[in-house]
Amino acid sequence: MPRYPESLIDQIRDRVDLLELVGRQVHLKKQGTNWLGLCPFHNEKTPSFHVRPDRGFKCFGCGASGDLFDFVMKSKGLDFNAAVEELAGQVGIRLPETRQDDPEAARKRENQDRLLDLLKATREFYQERLASPVGARARHYLAERGMKEETVRRYGLGFAPPGWSHVLDRFGGGEAAAELLEQAGLVTRKAPGEKWYDRFRHRIMFPIADLKGRCVAFGGRVLDAGEPKYLNSPESELFQKGKLLYGLDTAQEAIRKEGSVIVVEGYMDRLSLAENGLEYTVATLGTAMTPEHLRLLWQRTHRIHFCFDGDAAGEKAAWRALELVLDGLDADRHVGFLFLPKGEDPDQVVRREGAEGFAARLSKGVSPIEFLLRHLGNGLELHTPEGRAALAHRARPLLGRIRDPLLRELYAQTLGQRLEIPVQYALEPNTRPPVPMARRVERPARAVAVMERNHEQALLALLLRQPRLVMERDEELSRLRLENAQLLELLTEMITLGHRFADPPSSWPLEQFPTRELALRARSILAAEETPLELAEEEFEGCLVSIHLKALRMERGRLMRRLEREGDEDGALLKRCCALKLEEERMLGNKKAGEGMH
Ligand code: UTP
Ligand code: MN
Repeated sequence: MPRYPESLIDQIRDRVDLLELVGRQVHLKKQGTNWLGLCPFHNEKTPSFHVRPDRGFKCFGCGASGDLFDFVMKSKGLDFNAAVEELAGQVGIRLPETRQDDPEAARKRENQDRLLDLLKATREFYQERLASPVGARARHYLAERGMKEETVRRYGLGFAPPGWSHVLDRFGGGEAAAELLEQAGLVTRKAPGEKWYDRFRHRIMFPIADLKGRCVAFGGRVLDAGEPKYLNSPESELFQKGKLLYGLDTAQEAIRKEGSVIVVEGYMDRLSLAENGLEYTVATLGTAMTPEHLRLLWQRTHRIHFCFDGDAAGEKAAWRALELVLDGLDADRHVGFLFLPKGEDPDQVVRREGAEGFAARLSKGVSPIEFLLRHLGNGLELHTPEGRAALAHRARPLLGRIRDPLLRELYAQTLGQRLEIPVQYALEPNTRPPVPMARRVERPARAVAVMERNHEQALLALLLRQPRLVMERDEELSRLRLENAQLLELLTEMITLGHRFADPPSSWPLEQFPTRELALRARSILAAEETPLELAEEEFEGCLVSIHLKALRMERGRLMRRLEREGDEDGALLKRCCALKLEEERMLGNKKAGEGMH
């Protein structure tokens, strides 16, 4: 629900310079009335991302398009209201307080702002201490562990010196200040009425930021052996471990670029992966994965690599992640589990093997079903019928959680094959999609609308502008089954007409269409669609692939619904689904490879 009035939105639109906004992320070059650059929303080597300062952006590679709000939503993973807030902040427009009449809420917000200020100032204090002589040993410790100064700076690491009242004193030491500092988790006392003292003493400080990059908490590591190894800020309104992933603020852009995310367990793991070029990493901070964590991740990418330490705690954390992730898995969401050698953590491995070595390990991570079988098979004698039956019994309820029917069937098949049991024993009878546990990620409706490009119309627009393509590629085009009957009629007509030209005309002679209606249809398509003629070939291939993919997906959707409804006695439907899925993957693979070659 848009929370702000249209007039305000227009005001923001007027003030924001789209070129400047996009230009902060994309290197743009002028071309005619457009500006052109590499699309920030998918990986490409030749630019197909167009910006029209007065209109918006459009990528002819991935189809992303929209206005300034869409750009911020997509690039920062925000919803519409948050994008409005972000842009308003940038151009200095004050937004109306949403609950202006609620003085309680206003007070709370004010208090939060004060806490954030305190945390920021404290972070700076710790940073400055780390750089000063008192921080020498801490600097030495970090350097010993291989951390670069650049990393220390970039992620705001600091040092809380030994002593009981540095932070207290820094803020004046009064009672009022101490109470605020306590709310911020920075000072504490044994009991009400007793003396306040700094929570963090003699520790290396890792600032923990929220999605907007604001410091909301700290983790502090001892320099020597000591307990606890890490001390964290207590949970508060600002800081909830279950809702925050360490490093997500700085990793967001890399996650989007890479199309995947690595999830590790610790601060140091996150930092040393980032330092070694794997910036698309976040850490769970020693807490179990939560549905909210997953939501944050699925919102940003459809490929998650979980990477756990090679110890019992790592296995336990991985299992927890698996249980959570099953629910939302489907054919387009990929999850891999990487288990490191006994006693090692990502930090050690990446320092030894570098980014390539680490990435190679990631690519060999096991799939959810593999992990599931391995974990549940622990302690069972799988060479005996009893052991195999026990495993099937353990696996069934878990497989039943997968809501994607095709994926569920495929997993059941794998289980059946592995255990050499008939596949019907691998699934609960009549497994129906369970009631959603964690709600599926809801994308804002707007975002879907801007991403769904009408490729059929785009293709026709291109062909109208480049008749030679109709003549050169007539065979492929005549095999194309367009969904939209009117467009299909137009296309058929163009192919027929194309056969009559000796040489391709430079643009389509609209008057040659047999009916006025067809000519009008062509004209309205031309008016509705811009075509990047300098990228005609790419646009052509891109449209064809997208149209094929959509047809394959729809066909698969139909089959899957039938499979749900009627079951699949002899497995024929499932087989066809699989074939379609393979075909899809092949096309997607080609598309990727094609993009890489330019
Ligand atoms: P680890 O013990 O694996 O620490 O805990 P680490 O990240 O490898 O740290 P180094 O390499 O020894 O410096 C993983 C995470 O669990 C949380 C921290 O977030 C840590 O990064 N943890 C661990 C705590 O909160 N408290 C602790 O006492 C230990
Ligand atoms: Mn470690």
